[in-house]
Amino acid sequence: MKKTAGEATVIVGAQFGDEGKGKIIDAMVPEYDAVVRYQGGNNAGHTVVVGSEKFKMHLLPSGVVRKKRSLIAAGVVLDPRVIKQEIDSLAAKGIKVDEHLLGIDFRTQVIFPWHNARDVARETAAGEGKIGTTGRGIGPAYEDRAARTGIRFGEFIDAKTLAAKIASKTAETGAKSGAKTAANEAKKTLGRIYPDSPDAIVPPAEEIAREYSALGAFLKKFACDACLEVNGLLEAGHRVLFEGAQGTLLDNDFGTYPFVTSSHPIAGGACVGAGVSPRAINRIEGVGKAYVTRVGSGPFPTELNDGIGERIREKGAEYGTTTGRPRRVGWLDIPMLRYADYLNGFTGIHLTKLDVLGGINPLKICFEYQLDGGRAGKTKTSVFPMNSGGFGGVGAAEPVYLELPGFPDLPQAEWRKAAAEGVAKGFSALPEKAREYVEKAGELIGVPILSVSVGPERNEIIWAKK
Ligand code: GDP
Ligand code: IMO
Ligand code: MG
Repeated sequence: MKKTAGEATVIVGAQFGDEGKGKIIDAMVPEYDAVVRYQGGNNAGHTVVVGSEKFKMHLLPSGVVRKKRSLIAAGVVLDPRVIKQEIDSLAAKGIKVDEHLLGIDFRTQVIFPWHNARDVARETAAGEGKIGTTGRGIGPAYEDRAARTGIRFGEFIDAKTLAAKIASKTAETGAKSGAKTAANEAKKTLGRIYPDSPDAIVPPAEEIAREYSALGAFLKKFACDACLEVNGLLEAGHRVLFEGAQGTLLDNDFGTYPFVTSSHPIAGGACVGAGVSPRAINRIEGVGKAYVTRVGSGPFPTELNDGIGERIREKGAEYGTTTGRPRRVGWLDIPMLRYADYLNGFTGIHLTKLDVLGGINPLKICFEYQLDGGRAGKTKTSVFPMNSGGFGGVGAAEPVYLELPGFPDLPQAEWRKAAAEGVAKGFSALPEKAREYVEKAGELIGVPILSVSVGPERNEIIWAKK
């Protein structure tokens, strides 16, 4: 492979998702020529705040807000109903999403109502043991891709092929001749596995075919070969930003399995999902909150189930962008970020929502874990102990904290002022103890902090001095 003249940067969630990736992408887009979503689907919710306008993107790459070429690559699972709604709602806000702005790879897997039904039915049946999925059909759509029974965007936009696919797809159960349609098949399977679940309902196949061929006709103009386009852009010396969804600890292999999503949010996922070589990637930038949040079930060792957690949740508006569920909240977990660094190879980290910690004194940071119930206090690790008690393995792991002095709970106007001063002063524009918190975090992770966010808006960000 000859060295491309272009620049490729991957933006990755360093924790459990919702780290503020949308905001960081939006801040970086002016320096790039295209933005690419490479995995996940509308389980994602990426927020971009511009003045009084709030954009919440589930499928569209965050680059659309600044009208930069935005691509949905092969590794995404795409719900056509949702993307149509998003396109319509952006039009109402004055952003015309046409085929010059948006491209969708013909290889992208399409989500159908039977995927949502399977997702919801399974979760309902699991009761207390549920994963806490977003119910958007993400897992089942990826299952079908792996089983090679999925329907891809290129087939979906061709009405004849789509009708034939819907009518002949019987692989849901591996059923024999009696099975007539994918939808009926899905219904049969669901009914058998979850007889008590009221959610195991899929519309009749003809109805799905009618609705989805209309959606296909609408979306057809966006079809492209995003793999060729991205490689062509890089070859021609352009700059491409890869927008990760979810977060490292939700990775299907390396996250807190089984409480994970079904794709690979980690940096390598950009190569697999968009069809670019690992050698094409120049920078890998993690986005991490100054604390940690998680939506859904699963291990969360530094979780705060007290008044401090409640305060952070309210101040940080920690309610899911996609489902509105309250997010679980906890102290910053350095071993988690060190593990994330192993998996991603961060060239730097963007630390977000520092403003939210204002007024909490002292602040705690987990800097290592004590293993085996702290036997003689000897067994410690500074990397997230994935294989320990409560994480799916043996032994117990307890977070060990250091305490740092808090910093003032500034009004938003003060943070904005600090951000404005930050253009010249870098992190020195932060209140002293806030800067110390950032510096300590960077030192413990061992990765440069590239920016610190102090509010949801576009300009509420301070870049490190070069
Ligand atoms: P994403 O999924 O990683 O893009 O993150 P979400 O958009 O789901 O959640 C991040 C939330 O925090 C959004 O509501 C953002 O507007 C907001 N946000 C981002 N950065 C900051 C920040 O520095 N301070 C505050 N207070 N809010 C922020
Ligand atoms: P963004 O891109 C936070 C979580 C769900 C659940 C688990 C599996 O906005 O950061 P799924 O529907 O994917 O099968 O659910 O993953 N989850 C997210 N949590 N941010 C996200 O996306 C998420 N996408 C999925 O809550 O625990
Ligand atoms: Mg989100």
